[in-house]
Amino acid sequence: MKVIWNSKLVEREDVKIDMEDRGYQFADGLYEVIRVYNGILFTATQHVERLFTGAKKIELILPFTKEELIQLLKELIQENQIETGNIYLQVTRGVSSPRNHAYPEAEFTTPIFTATTTIVPRNLKMMKNGIKVITLPDMRWLHCDIKSISLLGNIMAKHEAHKKGKDEAILYRGNDVTECSASNISIIKNNILYTHPDGNLILPGITKAVILETARKTGMIVKEETFSLKELKEADEVFASSTTMEAMPVVEIDNELVGDGKRGPVVQLLQELYVAQIESECGLIH
Ligand code: PDD
Repeated sequence: MKVIWNSKLVEREDVKIDMEDRGYQFADGLYEVIRVYNGILFTATQHVERLFTGAKKIELILPFTKEELIQLLKELIQENQIETGNIYLQVTRGVSSPRNHAYPEAEFTTPIFTATTTIVPRNLKMMKNGIKVITLPDMRWLHCDIKSISLLGNIMAKHEAHKKGKDEAILYRGNDVTECSASNISIIKNNILYTHPDGNLILPGITKAVILETARKTGMIVKEETFSLKELKEADEVFASSTTMEAMPVVEIDNELVGDGKRGPVVQLLQELYVAQIESECGLIH
C-alpha cells in the first residue's frame, strides 16, 4: 500500500521524517480520520474544514488548499484500491532545529504531511451488540476542540478502559460528562437526545453533527446541553459516535447495564439514518 508523504504517493519505506520534526518533539501537529465507503470519502469536506480550523487555531500554515488535499486523498484511495476503510492523515509544523519550544517563523519551516489507508469493514456485530465502558475524570487539556496529535490524555483513558476489559472511557469534568477517549457521547431520555455542546471541552465530532442533523430532520428533539454522570447512568439509551464507530450503542457503564443492556430503538433508528446519509454520498453499502 502506498502512503502520502508531503505531496507525493510513495512506498512507506521511502518516507523519511527528521528526528527534530516538531510532531515528534512536541506533538506540534494535527490529524484527521476519514471513513471510506465504496471507495468514496465520506464527509471529506467537513473533515478538511476541521483540519483547516485547527490549523488556524495553532497558526500552522497548511501546505495545500482544501481542494488539493481532497484530490491527493482521492488519489491515495484509488492507488490502494480501498473500498471500505479509513484514511488517517497527519500534519506537523515540520523541523525546527535546534529544539525550541517557540513556533519557528512560518517561512523557515515546511509542514510535514503524511497519510495512510487501512481496510476496515463496518463492525455490524458491535453496532448491534454495543460496547461496554467505564467512566473516568477528564484529565485532558482545555483545547479539546483541536484535533491535536498530542493524545496522551486520550490514550491513557482508553488504556484504563482496556485494562478493565472494556471498550471505551466516558470522561467527565466535575459533574458534567464531556466525551469519550476517542468518540463523542450522547444520551436519550424520554426520546430527547442530549449531548455536550461544542466548545473547547470536546472535539466537534463530524459523526455527531451528521447524527444530530438527521435526528432533527425526523422531528426528534435534540438538546446540545451538558448532562451529569447521574443522568448518564439513568439514561434510557446511550451511544458513542465517531468516524470509525458510527453510532455505537453503549450497553454497560461501570459494570451496570444501560436500560436492559441491549441496543435501544432510538439508537437503532439513528444508525439507520446514518446509513442513509452514507448511502446518499457514497452509494449503497449493503
Ligand atoms: N476519533 N472525540 C474524540 C476525542 C475523538 O478522538 C473523536 C474521533 C471524536 C469523534 O469525531 P468524529 O466523529 O469526527 O470522528 C470525538 C477518531 C476516530 C480517532 O482518533 O481515531
